[in-house]
Amino acid sequence: MNPWKEAILETDPDLDVEIWPRVEKNERVTFAVVWNQPPNVLNSYPNLGVVSSLGAGVDHLISDKTLPEKVKVTRVVIPSLKEQISDYVLNAVMNYRFNTATYVDQKRIGQWNPIDPIQKADLTVGVMGLGEMGQSIIERLQLNGYKVFGWSRSGSQVGNTVCYGGDQFDDFLRRTNILVNALPLTSETNGILDLEVFKKLTSHSYLINVGRGAHLIEEDLIYALDTDALQGACLDVFEEEPLPTHHSFWNRPKIMVTPHVAAITDPKEAAKVIVENYKLSLSGMSLMYEVDRGKGY
Ligand code: GLV
Repeated sequence: MNPWKEAILETDPDLDVEIWPRVEKNERVTFAVVWNQPPNVLNSYPNLGVVSSLGAGVDHLISDKTLPEKVKVTRVVIPSLKEQISDYVLNAVMNYRFNTATYVDQKRIGQWNPIDPIQKADLTVGVMGLGEMGQSIIERLQLNGYKVFGWSRSGSQVGNTVCYGGDQFDDFLRRTNILVNALPLTSETNGILDLEVFKKLTSHSYLINVGRGAHLIEEDLIYALDTDALQGACLDVFEEEPLPTHHSFWNRPKIMVTPHVAAITDPKEAAKVIVENYKLSLSGMSLMYEVDRGKGY
């Protein structure tokens, strides 16, 4: 059985779950659960009231011009997503500090060449995006003794962390060595990671992108690496996924590539939020993790 159907039925065996494109009667569909749906699918269910993303991101829903306006959009925020993404970022920071990628290459050719690690005290990590994921990344880094600043367009605060707002972006960047992107993808944040941003980072500058590929101007990253404006990057998300085989990122030693695995949704855990939201929608109550479709997050 489809793992999502199985997880939803395990949560509530009385539900009627169908897997697209095998849907018996389109009129019966009131709630949908989707990831990277093609256009012109969600507009074929006249009684659709709510669509839940299978993950934390909803850009695939916000950008779907064929999603009827009346349909509410929710997302899945579960502890394991926050746990994974924080671990991923911490690991990327450590790999950079301890030159892990270089030692993997050295081992391949039998080379013993110690390189001084970057001291924790010499680093500040700047986290862009202070939603559920950004906050949890900040906490994990702080627990591990890192100095961390936050930035978001709205300038929201996270505990006692120094957080910068929209117009303080330059101040934030000038104090940052390792830049972590955990922003939602919206028309305002599309292409935000560009050469101007990389040039403002301070020494030991490194990029970790766990947001979306479209946040990054890919040519600017290459240029920044070639001109030493940036020392390296760890990328989990790409403009085109899977990353095409001919893509230049594959052959760049300074770029670590992972195949969109920083936070993988566990169907069993997510099903609890999905079923709960389905029931809330039936009783007309306000939904959990509902997205403002205008804002895009
Ligand atoms: C993954 O990218 C997600 O949005 O959950």
